[in-house]
Amino acid sequence: MAVIKSTSYNIYIGHNSLKALNTFLKKNKYSKYFILCDEHTFQYCLPTLLFHSPLLHEAEIIELESGEDKKTLETCLQVWGALTDSGADKTSLLINLGGGVISDLGGFVASTYKRGIPCINIPTTLLSMVDASVGGKTGVDFEGIKNHIGTTAEPKGIFVNPEFLETLSERQLKNGYAEVIKIALIADAEFWKTLQKLKQKNEFFSDAIITKAIELKNSIVKKDLHEQNIRKSLNFGHTIGHALESAFLEQKKDIFHGEAIAVGMLIESELAMVLKRISAKDFRNISEYVSSVYKPITLTKKTKALLLNYMLHDKKNEGGDLCFALPNLVGHYELYRGMDMELVKRILEKY
Ligand SMILES: NC(=O)c1ccc[n+]([C@@H]2O[C@H](COP(=O)([O-])OP(=O)(O)OC[C@H]3O[C@@H](n4cnc5c(N)ncnc54)[C@H](O)[C@@H]3O)[C@@H](O)[C@H]2O)c1
Repeated sequence: MAVIKSTSYNIYIGHNSLKALNTFLKKNKYSKYFILCDEHTFQYCLPTLLFHSPLLHEAEIIELESGEDKKTLETCLQVWGALTDSGADKTSLLINLGGGVISDLGGFVASTYKRGIPCINIPTTLLSMVDASVGGKTGVDFEGIKNHIGTTAEPKGIFVNPEFLETLSERQLKNGYAEVIKIALIADAEFWKTLQKLKQKNEFFSDAIITKAIELKNSIVKKDLHEQNIRKSLNFGHTIGHALESAFLEQKKDIFHGEAIAVGMLIESELAMVLKRISAKDFRNISEYVSSVYKPITLTKKTKALLLNYMLHDKKNEGGDLCFALPNLVGHYELYRGMDMELVKRILEKY
């Protein structure tokens, strides 16, 4: 089992992480346990958790309907209500058992209920293991805007059991893998080389890869919890990616976050090449690798127009300037402010 120290808590990774959870629960005397899950993690993950953690047999289970469209204040009302009805107090523990929707919403509920109660994350998707559960960003969507209402509130521990990934579809796994590729490209050239050497699909999601990706994200977050500087580097691929997600959503077309980020990384890497931040060879490597993992996505004229429009309204822009996080040499990043819109259009047109 790997143990990574974060700001004030530990991240346990591996098959024995649920044993570490038992020790954690015994050490910290919580008055009551609440497990937040959705219908899938109720079915696929809760039995394993209860099997390994006898102390949790007495926990109250709060089961939500799955889906991003349930990441709302209405659902929070439901959870705050359940906590109140069951007498949760300041020393109760909320256990977020699920993907990023559960850890975002559960973290937000915990940070606001009675001005904050402790919570822990037990991520069950690759995306939540390597990204969403780490870093203390919590929140819900509001009036169609993603993560519009939220807090920065860190959990008391993160327990990553990669065995939970066994019941995820390949598409869901690749969804999370985009964030692994991203962090390698902006933070660790050696890790990028390792990823390119992986052959079998199951190697993509091995304990070693998950651990490295978490280590990298954790070290960035520890330096800049409130995203004043280096944490912005995690937005590589996301300026285009988020705009693409919004454009697809508006047209009621299906796309996963990671699939949109994959397109974002392709386009933003080309921007980095044109701006001479990475070499043509590095761009070719990135392009070939990303295209070998993800199926191509067709961008219609309408989608491109919508994407450009969403990009202009991106909350990462500053003082009207388009802002991007780009690789500057593979494994390093640059926060690029004032991107030329015509250049973006040119690259997008070719896509
Ligand atoms: N806070 C952050 O820093 C951060 C970072 C990235 C993403 N996010 C958020 O994360 C969310 C996306 O996370 P996600 O992709 O994990 O989505 P998700 O939580 O909706 O999970 C995806 C689907 O997988 C199911 N599922 C979860 N674990 C399973 C398992 N082990 N077996 C079978 N099915 C399982 C879920 O029920 C759901 O249907 C978004 O809301 C995004 O905004 C947050």
